[in-house]
Amino acid sequence: MNSTTIQETIKLLAMKILFLNGPNLNLLGSREPEIYGRMTLADIEAKVRERAAQLKVAVDFRQSNLEGELVGWIQQAKGAFDVIVINAAAYTHTSVALRDAISAVGVPTIEIHLSNIHAREEFRHKSVIAPVCRGQICGFGAKSYILGLEAAIDVTEIKK
Ligand code: DQA
Repeated sequence: MNSTTIQETIKLLAMKILFLNGPNLNLLGSREPEIYGRMTLADIEAKVRERAAQLKVAVDFRQSNLEGELVGWIQQAKGAFDVIVINAAAYTHTSVALRDAISAVGVPTIEIHLSNIHAREEFRHKSVIAPVCRGQICGFGAKSYILGLEAAIDVTEIKK
């Protein structure tokens, strides 16, 4: 390993990524599998942890059905996490509170979805959190989480 690679590895080892999951994602596996697939949230978390181990970064993975709890976790992320990756689920389309929390804390945030929200009902086309996120990944099923993880590492510019 040359010294640049060692430096990069040290920075990656210190990196912490917070995965947040919104309402009804605890039902994955049995919830509308034709849209969301058959993997449970625990299965997806295991895939994320496997890839995070390969990439040498730490992840915390949480789910809540409560808007206020998600807001609290976003607020607490400041100074504790380098990046947030969020599947806000239905709150994506409604929650000014989540949007304001993301905007207030300034922790770089990546929006992810299992389904392609733009190809579904019209009310899902609008994401109120998108303007305060670095970018949006949707439509790749559980792979959206892995792409979110990889994007999270890129936005920190550790690799640049
Ligand atoms: C979702 C898409 C949302 O519109 C929906 O309310 C969800 C899941 C997704 O991952 O595809 O609960 O965020």
